[in-house]
Amino acid sequence: MPEADPKAMAKREGVARTLLVALLVSLVCSSLVASAAVVLKPLQEANAKLDARKNILDVAGVFDPDRDIDEQFESIETRVVDLETGTYRGDIDPDAFDPEQARKDPEQSTAVPPELDAARVGRRADRALVYLVRDGDSVTRIILPVYGYGLWSTMYGFLALEPDGNTVADIVFYSHAETAGIGDFVSKPKWRSLWPAKRAFDEDGELMLRVVKGRVSPDDPLADYHVDGVSGATLTGNGVTNLIQYWLGPHGFGPYLREIQQGAGI
Ligand SMILES: Cc1cc2nc3c(=O)[nH]c(=O)nc-3n(C[C@H](O)[C@H](O)[C@H](O)COP(=O)(O)O)c2cc1C
Repeated sequence: MPEADPKAMAKREGVARTLLVALLVSLVCSSLVASAAVVLKPLQEANAKLDARKNILDVAGVFDPDRDIDEQFESIETRVVDLETGTYRGDIDPDAFDPEQARKDPEQSTAVPPELDAARVGRRADRALVYLVRDGDSVTRIILPVYGYGLWSTMYGFLALEPDGNTVADIVFYSHAETAGIGDFVSKPKWRSLWPAKRAFDEDGELMLRVVKGRVSPDDPLADYHVDGVSGATLTGNGVTNLIQYWLGPHGFGPYLREIQQGAGI
C-alpha cells in the first residue's frame, strides 16, 4: 500500500476545517437573523399600527405632531362594517378585528370576481374597519382604508369622505413602491390637494370619481368627479382610479355608502 502524502493530507484537512468554519459561521448568522426577525416583529407591528393611526388622524384633519398619537387616536371611533350588507357589526370588537388576518382566512374573506378586480385586490376580507371623526354627536368625516395595484406596487391609503358619504374630504397614500420622481406623485401634498371637494357619485348614484389623463379642463362637465393625472405617469394614476372604483363600488364600501346616502345613521 502506498504511503499517504503528508502534504495532500494536510491540504484535505485544511479544506475540511475551512468548510466546517464556514458552516458554523453561516449557522450562527442565520440563527441571529431568525431571532432578530422574531424579536423585532412585535416592534415592527407596533410601528406599522402607529403609522396607520398617524395617517388616519392626518386625513381626519385633526393630526397634531406635538401630541401623542395614541392619545389623539382616542378621538377617532373605529367600527367594523359588513361589506356585503353595508351595515355595522356591533357584535365584533374593532380592537380585536385584524383585517389582514381576516383577508387570509377563507372563512372570513371572498375572492374578488376578475371582472371587478382591475385594482388586483385578489381577496378581500368580508368585514372592514372604518374610522369616524365626531364633533359632539355628529360625524364630520368617514375614513375608509383603500388599496390596490399601481404600476409596480400595491398602494395603501385612506380616503376621507364628508358625512354625505359622497364628497371627498381628503386622501392619503402612505405606502407604495411606485417610481420616485414618476409614480410617487400619489404621496405628494400638491397632488393630494386636488382631491378635497371632488365627488364620488353623481345624482343617479353612478360612481364617477377617477384620475384622468393630464389636466382636468375647467370646461369638463365632469370636473367635479375628475382629478388631474400626471403626464408620464398615467399608469399609476390608472391604478388610483381602479382602486377607487373597487373600494367605492358594489364589492367594496358601496353598500355601506349607499346606506349613509339613504340616511341610515352613521
Ligand atoms: C424606469 C421607469 C419607471 C417608470 N415608473 C413609472 C411609475 O412609477 N408610474 C407610471 O405611471 N409610469 C411609470 N413609468 C412610465 C410608464 O411606463 C408609462 O410610460 C407611463 O405611465 C405612461 O404615461 P403617459 O401616457 O402619461 O406618458 C416608468 C417608466 C420607466 C422607464
